[in-house]
Amino acid sequence: MHILLPGPTPVPTAVEQAMLTAMTDHRGALFEEVQARVLEQLARIFGAPSPQHVAVFPASGTGGLEAAVQNLLAPGDAVLAVETGLFGRRFSEIAEAHGVEVHRLEVPWGQAFDVADVVRHAEQRPYRAVLLTHNETSTGVLNPVAKVALALAHHDPAPLVLVDSISGVPSIPLTLTDHIDVLITASQKGFMCPPGLTMLGFSDRGREAVLAQRPGRFYFDCTPYLKGRLPYTPAISLWYGLDAALTLLEEEGEEARFRRHEHLRDIVRAYAAAGGLTPIVAAEVASPTVTALELPPTLNPGQWRQKLAARGLQIAGGLGNWHHHVVRIGHVGYLDVADLWAGLALMAPELPHPDAALKAAFEASALAQ
Ligand SMILES: Cc1ncc(COP(=O)(O)O)c(C=O)c1O
Repeated sequence: MHILLPGPTPVPTAVEQAMLTAMTDHRGALFEEVQARVLEQLARIFGAPSPQHVAVFPASGTGGLEAAVQNLLAPGDAVLAVETGLFGRRFSEIAEAHGVEVHRLEVPWGQAFDVADVVRHAEQRPYRAVLLTHNETSTGVLNPVAKVALALAHHDPAPLVLVDSISGVPSIPLTLTDHIDVLITASQKGFMCPPGLTMLGFSDRGREAVLAQRPGRFYFDCTPYLKGRLPYTPAISLWYGLDAALTLLEEEGEEARFRRHEHLRDIVRAYAAAGGLTPIVAAEVASPTVTALELPPTLNPGQWRQKLAARGLQIAGGLGNWHHHVVRIGHVGYLDVADLWAGLALMAPELPHPDAALKAAFEASALAQ
């Protein structure tokens, strides 16, 4: 089965093999080495001041979002939550579930937030924090997080900036040095691992806020992690896998990685548009990791995806109100042009204009030269 999903994503053989490593004492010297190496590499990717600014524990991305809320916010805090889709909405709901006073800025689905608009709303009161989504996976929109964070850094007092980058980092540029206080990610997208680990990077200010003890957290309390300790049994096999994946990411290099994802996006958009599916999001804000496509009214997304699955290709459905007319193609993680082509070739016979789609993909792949 080929998967072109925005998570989970294909897992490299080297990562699978690493996950077969025999169990070891997670408080022993062997695992300590793995822990140190992983935290060091994650700190580099996050642009964190040190490995003691990184927390890794077993949870999917949503657990990471909840941990960020529990560690940096308290009941009664007022936050501005900028929602550009389903995952932005989820971040708000988590904050509300923890008694945070959430002021929503809702952006129509398919659009990125406007920097001036967010800053204007953030100025309306002294918010404790602003919640942002870097790459909105439900719509395939890339938001200008770094620009907003830079503008907010000049406010007095500057709100904490909490960023869901679960489908962004490490495939799309953004680091804590972009005036961000916590970057939340998960293992099953650009990090090329199975689901199960969430990874958070904190700024100095973010770390201090975590260490300022507050009630209402236990398993997700990041304090021990930020002091270099693993308080509970870690997901040892996933750590091994992540260790191997980080080596692969480093070998490729970040610039090559960023360009690869952009290139895959451009191929998918050209292919789909020529083939009769409409990329919903404007090119300027199109995500490098996931593309939402509107199907013509003659195609039912559920049935269409079933047909593709029968051919050996899984793609994602539309979420929320987009469920009935949209599909999403993921192009993130362990995927090169040849892998993408395998999926696009399987999809082509089910498109309104297969030949045009393949020709456009061929040209966008720069294979025509
Ligand atoms: C932007 C974003 N936020 C949050 C989540 C939720 O992550 P998980 O399903 O790992 O809990 C996802 C998952 O797709 C996501 O893409």
